[in-house]
Amino acid sequence: MSTPLVVGVAFVAILTWLVVRSSTKKPYPPGPKGYPIIGNLLDLNTDPWRLFANLADKYGEIFHLDVVGQHIVVLNSLEAATEVLDRHSSATSSRAPNIVLQEYMTNGTTIGFMPYNETWKKVRRISHDALTRVASVNYDNLRVRESIVLIDALLQDSSEWQEQLKKEFASITLSGFFGYPALTSFDDPAFVGIYDFVERVEKALTPGNYVVEFIPFLKYLPVSLAKWKGDLNVSHEKDYALFRQLRDNGVGFAEKSGRNSLAASLAADAQKMGLTIDDEVWLLALLFVGGTDTCSDMMQWFFFTMIAHPDVQRKAQEELDRVVGRSRTPTRADLDHLPYFTAVVRELLRYRSPAPIGMPHYSTEDSWYKGYLIPKNSIVTFNQWAITHDKEAFGEDAALFNPDRYFNGSVGSETLKETKGTGHHGFGFGKRACVGRYFAEDSLNLICAQILWSLNIEAKHKNEKGEPILPSPNELPPGFAGHPLPFEIQVNLRFPDARVVLDNLKESLPA
Ligand SMILES: *[C@@H]1O[C@H](CO)[C@@H](O)[C@H](O)[C@H]1NC(C)=O
Ligand SMILES: *[C@@H]1O[C@H](CO)[C@@H](O)[C@H](O)[C@H]1NC(C)=O
Ligand SMILES: *[C@@H]1O[C@H](CO)[C@@H](O)[C@H](O)[C@H]1NC(C)=O
Ligand SMILES: *[C@@H]1O[C@H](CO)[C@@H](O)[C@H](O)[C@H]1NC(C)=O
Repeated sequence: MSTPLVVGVAFVAILTWLVVRSSTKKPYPPGPKGYPIIGNLLDLNTDPWRLFANLADKYGEIFHLDVVGQHIVVLNSLEAATEVLDRHSSATSSRAPNIVLQEYMTNGTTIGFMPYNETWKKVRRISHDALTRVASVNYDNLRVRESIVLIDALLQDSSEWQEQLKKEFASITLSGFFGYPALTSFDDPAFVGIYDFVERVEKALTPGNYVVEFIPFLKYLPVSLAKWKGDLNVSHEKDYALFRQLRDNGVGFAEKSGRNSLAASLAADAQKMGLTIDDEVWLLALLFVGGTDTCSDMMQWFFFTMIAHPDVQRKAQEELDRVVGRSRTPTRADLDHLPYFTAVVRELLRYRSPAPIGMPHYSTEDSWYKGYLIPKNSIVTFNQWAITHDKEAFGEDAALFNPDRYFNGSVGSETLKETKGTGHHGFGFGKRACVGRYFAEDSLNLICAQILWSLNIEAKHKNEKGEPILPSPNELPPGFAGHPLPFEIQVNLRFPDARVVLDNLKESLPA
């Protein structure tokens, strides 16, 4: 080798060493080492919530993964999540780009999944104004109506109880958003069409289903070479037609009936903010996605915990008998006088979440946490499972379902301050916290209250000792779902007169 070549090779080697050294020297949070180039890709080849839970045990409150060059930062404590996502929200409030969802499914306006930009701020603002704590009261009649429908259906046949829950929340949302009549069948075209859309959104959000997310130039291929584009075009047109029709009906319903619909409240504000009707259509569609499966997943955990903890069920029912009595069902006004019952729902939202690995944010600037760098363009998520089971915040029994923790001082005042007094962070953090939280929380409170007032809930199958047979609460279905593994339930009316009270109440509610 000639001298200049040797010098050249040595120079390149030193440079490479320096570059590698300086990039590995960046103070990222700790994390598993991974392989060159693909990084931690193989680690993700397992249920994400379980991987995250194991890594949280090993690395503590924050860890870092590198997946083919994409930084992923996971926050595992309340302190880390509030610091990074609440206090540094100007750096950590965006969402990762999603080509299929944004460009092919919804034409841009996907409230939960848009980047942090001016359009997002507008749709967020009008959704926020339409879904305030005060506005949520307007939907109470629907919540009670659908609770009675659910109770009747379960008394007749509880074998499809998870499906019945889905239908209940779809019905509340369809009526509340669009003035749509109560769903009477699983075959209702709006129910079927909307669930089709929900499933396609979930597919688009699950990494690996669309290669174009990793190799964006694939979107320039002609449809003849990219069948997925043609398929998405067909479903886009179908979805648009459905939601446009629902939106128009919802606006018309409010004008004709003088009653409320979310479509009408949004329409008034959207025009003032310079948003288009198409923006409204996709906003409503995405709010629907956000508000149905999440609630029905939480209700599955409600049934689970009531069966697993019959003592809690009895205690809540005794309180309902004492405060509400048996001649009417509980109302919103009763909730203030039902501390034990409200602690049950609060504990439910702490104990389990429909999003065990959070809703990943995306950073738009570098930020720091306790000396660790969270680089720009990182996926930053809160590990809901680890955060709500953190012993420092919630006590030694943090992993257990125990509504008493709110009375015996085991949830410290510091923790309650961080959680704005709610005792949980089930609705996320920072500017991206769930815009429908009052809507959802009120629904859970009122529906659970109607159910506990009316029904005794048991497992369908019991062992020789009479104990319920349930799956482990520490197992979740594969993927991202936040509901328990399947089990069967059995329900009975708590007392005969409940039938009369429910029938009369149903008669008195607007259809
Ligand atoms: C998407 O929106 C743009 C305007 O914002 C509009 O011109 C275009 O037709 C829309 N595309 C679809 C498929 O709806
Ligand atoms: C915000 O992002 C969405 C989705 O990428 C895009 O359609 C919209 O035009 C953006 N708005 C602004 C003001 O940049
Ligand atoms: C969908 O297909 C129709 C007709 O085949 C075409 O006119 C339209 O531009 C396509 N839309 C998109 C968003 O590709
Ligand atoms: C909390 O207090 C109640 C009533 O005093 C008691 O029954 C319960 O066992 C206590 N729970 C805990 C976790 O200490």
